[in-house]
Amino acid sequence: METKLFTASDDDIALAGEIIKNGGLVAFPTETVYGLGASAFNPDAARKIYAAKGRPSDNPLIVHICDKAQLSEIAESITPDAQSVIDAFMPGPITIILKKNLLIPDAVTAGLKTVAVRYPSNETACRLIRAAGVPIAAPSANLSGKPSPTDVSHVIEDMTGRIDAIIDGGRCDVGVESTIVDFTDEPPVILRPGGVTYDDLKKVVPTIKIDKNILRSIGADEVPKSPGMKYKHYAPNAEVTVIEGEKENVQRKIKELLSDNEGKIAGVLAMYGADYDNAVILSAGESNKEYAKNLFSALREFDRLGVEKVYAEFCEKDGYGLAVKNRLYKAAAQRVIHV
Ligand code: TXA
Ligand code: MG
Repeated sequence: METKLFTASDDDIALAGEIIKNGGLVAFPTETVYGLGASAFNPDAARKIYAAKGRPSDNPLIVHICDKAQLSEIAESITPDAQSVIDAFMPGPITIILKKNLLIPDAVTAGLKTVAVRYPSNETACRLIRAAGVPIAAPSANLSGKPSPTDVSHVIEDMTGRIDAIIDGGRCDVGVESTIVDFTDEPPVILRPGGVTYDDLKKVVPTIKIDKNILRSIGADEVPKSPGMKYKHYAPNAEVTVIEGEKENVQRKIKELLSDNEGKIAGVLAMYGADYDNAVILSAGESNKEYAKNLFSALREFDRLGVEKVYAEFCEKDGYGLAVKNRLYKAAAQRVIHV
């Protein structure tokens, strides 16, 4: 299949909207990561998404809207807490889980009675949804198991030849996927941390909880609330180890690990100005917010450079810390050294 590369011009967005309307697949930028979109009302189109990504068919998609009025087409009802979050944070990097409306096909929700809804703030994403005339079902636009794409080059790498078109929207602002909150449970629970933080949410929904599985791996016999939790995500080819703690301790530990590295090509994802020898150093930025923006592209870059072992400096510093830690721990398959 030939994959067209579109800009965000009006003409290109109109063409991309037509492709979605006609049951095709278009990758598009959002403020979090790139999405791989199809009409949310077309089960055959939704199934093509799973094939293009190599995604397990029990992992549901997020339905993207460009107008709060579309919520009633997708959800059966909206709880008062969900309404408060919609008022406070949409459009933005948040996804809410609600009871699904009958219009949404099982292929989109992987057979669940609930649906994930997100209203992105990215202009290009909203223009595409408007041009398509339907809500757009979209997971992240990476091959299953790869880090989510935060730049158009990542989408080109993973999806060329597999989908109809890619819209170039440059680099994504947030860099990690949206915060997911499940409102079908009482109290509401955060299933995935992201750009709307726990502290932000607590101001609006004081009873909100964080799912216990956010920082651990799920056992083979467990059924998590969000099917995506059980898959190995965000894993680069390199073996990643997180070194977590205060700057001096982290840097001392990494120097020690680098000196005993079995001749492997090593890399460091650095939060601070670092002087490591014999390692490829990529900057994560000093704040956790910058870390979120840089993390996935750095993991891909380490792979591109043939790095075999990555040591990631980490210290929780701000509200984005939990989102970064959740992705880092998964990328490291829970190999974390606290110093
Ligand atoms: O920022 C984002 O959320 C990006 C952009 C493209 O919007 N999308 C994204 O989609 O990250 P994806 O498919 O990579 O992650 C969706 C997550 C999966 O972990 C899935 O299990 C969960 O949402 N999910 C979807 N529907 C659900 C539902 N009804 N109940 C529980 N979890 C659900
Ligand atoms: Mg994904």
